[in-house]
Amino acid sequence: MSMPFTFHILTFGCQMNVNDSLWLAGVLSARGGKEADVGTADVICLNTCSVREKPEIRVKNMLSQICGSRKANPPLLIAVLGCVAKQHGEDLLSFPNVRLVAAADHLFELPDVIEKILQNPDQRVALLDFTEDFVEREEGIPLFSAPTAYVNIMQGCDNFCTYCIVPYTRGRQRSREAGAVLSECRQKIGYGAKELVLLGQNVNAFGLDACRGHKTQRPSFARLCQEVAALPGLQRLRYTSPHPKDMTEEDIAAFSTLPALCPSLHLPMQAGSDRILRRMGRGYTRKDFLLLVERLKNARPDIALSTDIIVGFPGETEEDLNETLSLMEACGFVSSYSFCYSDRPEARASTFPDKISQETKVKRLEAVQSLQEELSRKWLASRCQTETDILLEGPSKRDAEGRKSWQGRDPYNCLVHVHLPEDAGKRGESVPVRIREAGKHCLFADPLP
Ligand code: SAH
Ligand code: SF4
Ligand code: F3S
Repeated sequence: MSMPFTFHILTFGCQMNVNDSLWLAGVLSARGGKEADVGTADVICLNTCSVREKPEIRVKNMLSQICGSRKANPPLLIAVLGCVAKQHGEDLLSFPNVRLVAAADHLFELPDVIEKILQNPDQRVALLDFTEDFVEREEGIPLFSAPTAYVNIMQGCDNFCTYCIVPYTRGRQRSREAGAVLSECRQKIGYGAKELVLLGQNVNAFGLDACRGHKTQRPSFARLCQEVAALPGLQRLRYTSPHPKDMTEEDIAAFSTLPALCPSLHLPMQAGSDRILRRMGRGYTRKDFLLLVERLKNARPDIALSTDIIVGFPGETEEDLNETLSLMEACGFVSSYSFCYSDRPEARASTFPDKISQETKVKRLEAVQSLQEELSRKWLASRCQTETDILLEGPSKRDAEGRKSWQGRDPYNCLVHVHLPEDAGKRGESVPVRIREAGKHCLFADPLP
């Protein structure tokens, strides 16, 4: 018998953490938990990320902030989950009220563990080892922000890019059973999802788990996409993130053969010079990357590509930076996330010499971001007067003329505001529109008659 309790989940980091937190909230709710704010919740979960910066400091600050604001309310259970939990482990239990630390692999058992700790407040639990397989999780209330739902297809990563902590915090890649992926997709479509996003740290290596000698009884990633795309009721399919070195001929062809697969792809480039790509351990050259982009554009000429860029990797010269800028330009990315390189103690690059000063990193980041602004502006401008379909997400703010509008995404994953009276739209509805004008990061459109 579960007892009533209130909970609050704070989430940092990537989409996988966001999705994990949604699952946890759905299961805790199904078991009688109620969401409450940080000031009053019985259970506070911090789902953490350590991909950059000083995560331990951020988490510690957050913990003292929570404890400070909660002095009058002692029976509080704080759970530190995710990548910082894996990284700092049992040390985190020394913080007041932290009674549970759990790596992402242990999410599946948290609802039981949280209930047990609530019944026995003296208990401290650390769940930190990696599981052998992708462990299936119980079904809760499927929470997602309609019309888009995310579905995990794997855990961990085998790539060990030299700057990256993910293989150490999330473990080796373990692919989920295809049947389980499909059944979660069906369930979410049943609850109103029109768009599904398949999630993983290296989605297109699905089934090729190094810990099993690359032999799993899994369909190829392209085959999995075909099966998901064929599910009745699904309008749009996306995935994130694929690795450029693992993009197969079939993966590329899917952009021309699967109508549900959207013409948008997040393809992390990281850097543009062969020397830096090699030192990052990315497994492709500048030429390979360009060729891949060319083949994707042949398969789907209107494909909108976005990317991730790291500047200031150890040993990066101005020339290397210029190669990053010229490759971004040659690929014509419609948007990108860019970051200053940050040392991760576990990752190999932290031992590399020739570290770049913070000042130089910031300057280089500005160069990347200003080029991206120009590329994004060009792309958004090129969309004006074209016709497309918007999947409505919800009402948006009034525009300059005070008219109410709706917002949603087009197939290129671009945010579009469309003039529709509030009662004329419905979340999840697909509306044909003509793009009227471009904003800085979004488009404005009118519905087609
Ligand atoms: N698995 C995904 C993304 C992983 S983390 C992929 O390979 O694309 C998301 C992004 O954070 C990465 O693409 C990279 O650009 C950035 N990143 C990872 N480690 C970093 C580090 N140590 N310093 C700066 N940026 C980093
Ligand atoms: Fe990190 Fe590289 Fe794996 Fe992405 S592919 S999670 S950057 S190790
Ligand atoms: Fe961060 Fe872990 Fe995701 S380090 S980016 S939360 S896999």
